[in-house]
Amino acid sequence: ITVYVSRDSGALAVGAEAVANAILAQAAERGITVDLVRNGSRGLYWLEPLVEVETAEGRVAYGPVDRDDVPGLFEADFLHGGAHPLAQGLTEEIPYLKAQQRLTFRRVGITDPLSLDDYRAYEGYRGLTQALEMTPAEIVAAVTESGLRGRGGAAFPTGIKWNTVLEAVGEPKYIVCNADEGDSGTFSDRMVMEGDPYLLIEGMAIAGLAVGAEQGYIYLRSEYPHAEAILNEAIARAGAAGYLGDNLRGSGKRFHLEVRRAAGAYVCGEETALLESLEGKRGQVRAKPPLPAIKGLFQRPTVVNNVISLASVPAILDKGPAFYRDYGMGRSRGTLPIQLTGNIRRGGLVELGFGVSLKELLYDYGGGTASGRPIKAVQVGGPLGAYLPAEQFDIPLDYEAFIAAQGTVGHGGIVVFDDTADMAHMARHAMAFCAVESCGKCTPCRIGSTRGVELLDRIIAERDKGTDSAQVTLLRELCDTLLNGSLCALGGMTPFPVLSALEHFPADFGLVAETAH
Ligand code: NAI
Ligand code: SF4
Repeated sequence: ITVYVSRDSGALAVGAEAVANAILAQAAERGITVDLVRNGSRGLYWLEPLVEVETAEGRVAYGPVDRDDVPGLFEADFLHGGAHPLAQGLTEEIPYLKAQQRLTFRRVGITDPLSLDDYRAYEGYRGLTQALEMTPAEIVAAVTESGLRGRGGAAFPTGIKWNTVLEAVGEPKYIVCNADEGDSGTFSDRMVMEGDPYLLIEGMAIAGLAVGAEQGYIYLRSEYPHAEAILNEAIARAGAAGYLGDNLRGSGKRFHLEVRRAAGAYVCGEETALLESLEGKRGQVRAKPPLPAIKGLFQRPTVVNNVISLASVPAILDKGPAFYRDYGMGRSRGTLPIQLTGNIRRGGLVELGFGVSLKELLYDYGGGTASGRPIKAVQVGGPLGAYLPAEQFDIPLDYEAFIAAQGTVGHGGIVVFDDTADMAHMARHAMAFCAVESCGKCTPCRIGSTRGVELLDRIIAERDKGTDSAQVTLLRELCDTLLNGSLCALGGMTPFPVLSALEHFPADFGLVAETAH
């Protein structure tokens, strides 16, 4: 009997290891043979630790399971799908999962992450097989046609970036995967690396074939030790099976891949600081131009792409660009793995075509707040994303629609706050975050963020007595300087949470007597 317990960090954090051990111990005690597979997570984090059992009808789910629940599960004959208060029915029928459009995450939580047989059984390596039959220009054209845009946050068309590198003069060329997933409330990169590492490896090999690069690096967030272990093992196994190395599947083409542990700074997720760090230097932002596509790692033409961008590519090559482009809305094509976090009842990973509204995500999927109180605001796109109030929850997830609402989709992380959140404190937090994480290269960010903290401290201290409007004007001017004078997005985006909090929640700054929200 096959039983699945996730080895994803999110599941381990809530006790999956203890549950797995308890299942093995109980099975041994009862003389039952259990084949325990440690899969990735389905992304139903509110049900983790999730235990799944293979039955004739499909996998049956139980969760969230505590180690103390395990004897009771055996009593209830869960190995044959027996009834139990924690039973969730067939996993694939859980509405949260069933309604999703899983293209990039199609295997995550289903397969054994390190099993190449599993990977191939679920359409793995079909994209690379296609790519090996194509010219570099054909691969680039397919990615361009798919409409894929960078999933790290900036949404730059991936095919156009690859084309710049393909046409750039200079050897060797490099593929760098930005796996320094630093945005608050985001974990989709980690889930892919832990739950389906061959997908990223395949995507990077395809990128290498597309632009003529034979070496790739995964710049991996230092806080992701499980992903590091899994990636290193997967790279070794992929190499032994001819999916990496000097002779890709007998084609004579080469692609090598290595993991590099990141420096533990938020700014090292900025592509030029990342390249500096990868070269062994202090992670400080480089002025652009030149673009990394022209002069990147060691001054050579370099593709820098986020994990999800690269992981989206195998399906595009396998099923064709039109298949991928058919999902989504407007200029936002394909699917986005959305991450629901913060004060939310059902936190987790929801992959859907662009166009889904915040309202659907927050209520239909998320089930409202965990605290049961009304949602006051959500922050989309990381610590430097805007705060959006309930009146804006009809906005569809679409890069352009978010920009029009002065927001950003970013890496697809949504952090939820209930009505007890103090938005002036959240604005201060953004300035404090910028002050701590600033690389120090430019003045607006290095000094302005600290002045911003001081200013917000004064506003917060005085707000009960009525805020001095001159302080608010000063704060706006400071934001204007950060917005227009910063060298990179860290300083340049810090005003978004500050100004959006000010605009939508003026009462929290002592600016109006009655709160509108
Ligand atoms: P950007 O707009 O400057 O650049 C986007 C990408 O397109 C870069 O890779 C750039 O080199 C490339 N590019 C631009 N023109 C090109 C051309 N003609 N040919 C080839 N490549 C070209 O944005 P940036 O500063 O790289 O990223 C900012 C974004 O990062 C923000 O929107 C934010 O959402 C996101 N972010 C994501 C985080 C995460 O954890 N995933 C953390 C922090 C920020
Ligand atoms: Fe460095 Fe901040 Fe300037 Fe970016 S905006 S280059 S992080 S000092």
